[in-house]
Amino acid sequence: MLPFHTRQSNASFPPKRTVFSVQSLQLLYSRPVLRWLPYLFGLILTLYLFTPFLFSYGRDSLPTPTLPLDDNKLPLAEVLSYRAQKVRDAYVHAYSSYKKDAWEWDELKPLSGGKDNNFNGWGVSIFDSLDTMWIMGLHEFFHEGLEIVEKATFYVSPKDYVPFFETIIRYLGGLLSAYALSGEPILLKKADELGASLLPAFKTPSGLPMYAVNPMTGTTRGGWTGSVLLSEALSNQMEYKYLAHLTNRAEYFEVTERIMDIMYNATVTDGQLPTQWDQNTGKPTNLQFSVGAYADSAHEYLLKQWLLTAQSEPKAKELYLKVVDSMIDTLLYVTPNRHLVYVTDATNGSPSHKFEHLSCFLPGLLALGAHTLDGLPAAQKERHAWAAEGIATTCWLSYADQASGLGPDEMMMARGDSTSGKWVNQLEQWEASGRSGVTPGLGDHKPERNLAAREYHAIKTTYLLRPETVESFYILWRTTGAEIWRERGWAVFEAIEKHARLENGYASVANVDKVPVSHLDEMPSFFLAETLKYLYLMFVEQDIIPLDKYVFNTEAHPLPIFEWNPKERAQYGIAPKVGGGGTNRWLKPSSLTAALTNHRRWFA
Ligand SMILES: *[C@@H]1O[C@H](CO)[C@@H](O)[C@H](O)[C@H]1NC(C)=O
Repeated sequence: MLPFHTRQSNASFPPKRTVFSVQSLQLLYSRPVLRWLPYLFGLILTLYLFTPFLFSYGRDSLPTPTLPLDDNKLPLAEVLSYRAQKVRDAYVHAYSSYKKDAWEWDELKPLSGGKDNNFNGWGVSIFDSLDTMWIMGLHEFFHEGLEIVEKATFYVSPKDYVPFFETIIRYLGGLLSAYALSGEPILLKKADELGASLLPAFKTPSGLPMYAVNPMTGTTRGGWTGSVLLSEALSNQMEYKYLAHLTNRAEYFEVTERIMDIMYNATVTDGQLPTQWDQNTGKPTNLQFSVGAYADSAHEYLLKQWLLTAQSEPKAKELYLKVVDSMIDTLLYVTPNRHLVYVTDATNGSPSHKFEHLSCFLPGLLALGAHTLDGLPAAQKERHAWAAEGIATTCWLSYADQASGLGPDEMMMARGDSTSGKWVNQLEQWEASGRSGVTPGLGDHKPERNLAAREYHAIKTTYLLRPETVESFYILWRTTGAEIWRERGWAVFEAIEKHARLENGYASVANVDKVPVSHLDEMPSFFLAETLKYLYLMFVEQDIIPLDKYVFNTEAHPLPIFEWNPKERAQYGIAPKVGGGGTNRWLKPSSLTAALTNHRRWFA
């Protein structure tokens, strides 16, 4: 038998890389002088194999700072590593519960200890969070996960279908990101297999994808709306373009770029891409312009394609700017008294004044654009940054106002006058008046416990463990350096710990304004893939995912920024690169932290 902690230190090695045998170790162990050799070998081998993630590993040994954490005397670095460790512990708790009760199934049912195959039955919680395990230095989990990937056949019975959009963003995005981070060849092999098996979805008269596909037979079917949703059409370009680049398979590029062509050519007002499209004609079938459900990630993929391909596809950037300026002009409103900026949806120009948790990704996107788009006129950049801050503040308040500290899934906002209630009108008035007073919607805000004074009510009271709000906090912190976003992120995490954590995993909360809360029997894979990943990256000091090198897909899977080579440019009609590809204006998390040590307390 090997001494206990030799076994421990070997446990995270992939079995195929074990280069010495158990017998030889036992022999060495029986000779006192040589007793330490296995440890030495183990250490050298560990250093050799795991240098890339040593920095994020071994955090278990960090001292736990004395509470309370917001004591000014406690060094910031200690607070941060404590927080990062707590988020990592949360992941370990969630994933261990999944392993115990739902292993190889899609998702854990944390209340009943049951399990659900609700996303193809291939083990989505594993595929979706391999990169989180890598980022957190959870190598045993990662290598166990790889074994599941290795066995994957992407089987469904002949009469079943897999949803195209979810399969792309969770499974394909997860495989590609884990491949980019770890370099394990099996991940690319499986990504290629999966990417190829989903291609039949694009076989429609227009090229817009079908809602669902059977990866074994290639048959497809439409969704309940009978149309293609904008988010389904425009949330596969990052994955398929990166896959085309890795595999040299032109078809991947062509099917996904065809959709971009349809969008560039679409005759719509001011870039307002509607939420539903016809797969036969390739034309819109409704007049709803939205940032929430049915649309959200489509807007994200316009900017992110530009960034992912090292700024080589200017049409994507142009469409992004057109769409977001149109959003700012038509979908952003301010409540009458609290001055909460929110983004809604409008049908044929008529706003619903609904504000969805899903839309809370928009501040992060706007901040990312304002931060990375070189040559954006200062006035436009400023406007995007203000909109980001205003909406993110409302997202924060939608959490902080509630008894649980968690935000509802959908709200109906108090509407002001249809003209003067528009954010852009207030902004223009403010600018015309010489910018006196605070920018509309910005400035001091306090949580409001009084329901009547909140200026919104929840129409969906659930908190579904969703990531969008902390995602935006993370990007706002990285782009502005304002520590307040991390403080708010921590408050969200503490509320999750307090109200969503069960003995077995974490569960969605049924009513965010009613404590003690009751739970829903679900732990979505995006909690592992996104929510906990963004929270971890917010506090971990090492720059594990440098933002000048990676772009997150809509499921928080970081994909590496790449350059099309001359052959690909010629083949895909991408113009040769001019200029240097932009400046790197990203500060490392540790530099941000250092700059902020002196004024970390934003809350009065
Ligand atoms: C878009 O328009 C261009 C130029 O008019 C045309 O060449 C191309 O075929 C169109 N693409 C689609 C998918 O409609």
